[in-house]
Amino acid sequence: MFEKVKKCMDEFVYECGHKQTIKLYNHISQGKMLRSSLIIEIAGQSEKTIQLCAVIEMIHLASLLHDDVIDEAPLRRGKETIHKLYDTKTAIMLGDLLYSKAFSKLTLMDKDIAFCVSNAVTSLSIGEMLDIELSNSFNTNLETYIDMIEKKTASLIEASTKSASILANKNQTNFAIYGNSIGLCFQIIDDILDVTQDSSTLGKPCLLDFKEGKTTIVYILLYQNLSQTDKNRLKSYFKKDLNQDQQNWIKQMIHKHDIISKTKQICKNIAKDGLDAIKNEENKKLFDIINNIIDREK
Ligand code: FPP
Ligand code: MG
Repeated sequence: MFEKVKKCMDEFVYECGHKQTIKLYNHISQGKMLRSSLIIEIAGQSEKTIQLCAVIEMIHLASLLHDDVIDEAPLRRGKETIHKLYDTKTAIMLGDLLYSKAFSKLTLMDKDIAFCVSNAVTSLSIGEMLDIELSNSFNTNLETYIDMIEKKTASLIEASTKSASILANKNQTNFAIYGNSIGLCFQIIDDILDVTQDSSTLGKPCLLDFKEGKTTIVYILLYQNLSQTDKNRLKSYFKKDLNQDQQNWIKQMIHKHDIISKTKQICKNIAKDGLDAIKNEENKKLFDIINNIIDREK
């Protein structure tokens, strides 16, 4: 089923008729296609659902191209990022091309879907702005973090499940709640993996978030659990290039204070809200998707 989505995305990009764009686009490796699997699971396979998947995956790709420029990330999905391989101008423009092509296809779709997806792009852009703002200082507020990831990551996933429910004539509110909780869980697990996995598994350096100034949920909970002396020590490491001993200290503290299971518990509570919203759907796959996200290791 993903081949059909990929083929549709290829067709949209080839329609641009610009050789360099096609070459650059072909360099990007395909991700997990979470948004497409949700859409197809909710709305089934049809030309309309495949096109919606292609549009949303292209918007997602565009946002990652821009995000990698903002984060100055060297690797994405184990491959060198476009801005490293070429330059920031090229990466930004490839993002703009994918985004604008997706939007022209979106205008041909149901107007409620077009409204839902375009609104989500505003939210995800605000989320990225908040992420940038928050990285200026050490954030210790969990609600502020949740609000940011809700916009940065959950908004487009929520738009995927909601627009799929519009296509399938299902309950939009319930599917929006389900998508929102998947998005929150996805980002929280992403933030856990940044501290628990090695760089070869991640396809990017580990402990990168803290160096980039991202005080994710892991660091917020860790901070709350530390003594005043250790709080100060953690704060002094914020946004620094840490040596092996300093990195090991962070990992030891995370282990000592059981931060990963505390974080996972928050994630499970959020997942429960999403699963409750779709409890009347006779679709085990929708339950598996959220559980697989919580259990994922890369
Ligand atoms: C990854 O976050 C980034 C996002 C989920 C969204 C980024 C959104 C934008 C740059 C706005 C794009 C706007 C348009 C118009 C396309 P992360 O850095 O926490 O995750 P990562 O580890 O995967 O990089
Ligand atoms: Mg990033």
